[in-house]
Amino acid sequence: MRNLLSIEDLSAEELSGLLDLAGNFAQVQQREVPKVPALRGKTVVLAFFEDSTRTRTSFDLAARRLSADVVNFSASQSSLKKGESLRDTVETIAAMGVDAIVVRHRSSGTPNQISKWTDAAVINAGDGWHQHPTQALLDAYTIRARLGSLEGKRIALCGDIAHSRVARSDAHAFAALGAEVILVAPRTMLPSSLAGWPVSVSHNLDQVIGDLDVAYLLRIQKERINDALFPSEREYRKLFGLTADRCRQLKPDAMIMHPGPMNRGVEIDSIIADGAQSFIQKQVEMGVAVRMAVLDALARNLPGGNNSADGQSGANT
Ligand code: NCD
Repeated sequence: MRNLLSIEDLSAEELSGLLDLAGNFAQVQQREVPKVPALRGKTVVLAFFEDSTRTRTSFDLAARRLSADVVNFSASQSSLKKGESLRDTVETIAAMGVDAIVVRHRSSGTPNQISKWTDAAVINAGDGWHQHPTQALLDAYTIRARLGSLEGKRIALCGDIAHSRVARSDAHAFAALGAEVILVAPRTMLPSSLAGWPVSVSHNLDQVIGDLDVAYLLRIQKERINDALFPSEREYRKLFGLTADRCRQLKPDAMIMHPGPMNRGVEIDSIIADGAQSFIQKQVEMGVAVRMAVLDALARNLPGGNNSADGQSGANT
């Protein structure tokens, strides 16, 4: 693996391998000093051109726990503001001797483009509506940690699918790992074509909720929407929100997930988000180990990386 641009670049075996590796790093996190030397001497740049709380902090911690040097590049305080092009910006950063660049950008395809301008490993931390591969990995990891496997599990992705890079990445990862994925959304929130999506579709949450192993709620991506896609938030909550009432139809051991940030009281009621079936905090917790696994796997393919086939990962050091 040279870059991580899309979850679709990974085979089912590679996906499982990364989840296994994340398991090793989850154990590292339990140690008194949760740090290993795997990326000592390497430099990781976090280049976030779009806002982020969880993903940025989690990559930052992951890189530091692997002993990498971390540089936080802030687009809003950079020469981009003076009109410097993205390419010049990237080449400037790369010229300082960088091993990996973690990119978030509001335009789909930007991490891919950046990977053509640099020899550093590029990790997509979310690009427009397109992809968010590490979110899919941490979601799959969280489900696997709880249910043992995704094989045969019924998972609903519910909400604003059309504008969601999380939905695109999760649907693919979950299906590749053997789950049955159902998109639950109003017609206005589905992509115009579902060609290539390994999913079925429902417009009625109440019809599918009782059989789910995982109910995965998505935020309405207001920043990516121009026209109203439903009459009101109240109306949306009534039909597609995981309300306390609707939640009673869930199996008692079904998992409730959300990538954050949540619109409490819209796609999920507050009491449910904080309730016993919610794995929303767990997802955040798992994010660090999963991102350590991704950084470690990529570092072994960098020039000078230990790419021996002995199966030894940084988690064992
Ligand atoms: C998501 C994102 O930014 O794509 N959040 C995240 O990374 N945890 C989902 C969202 O913004 O709704």
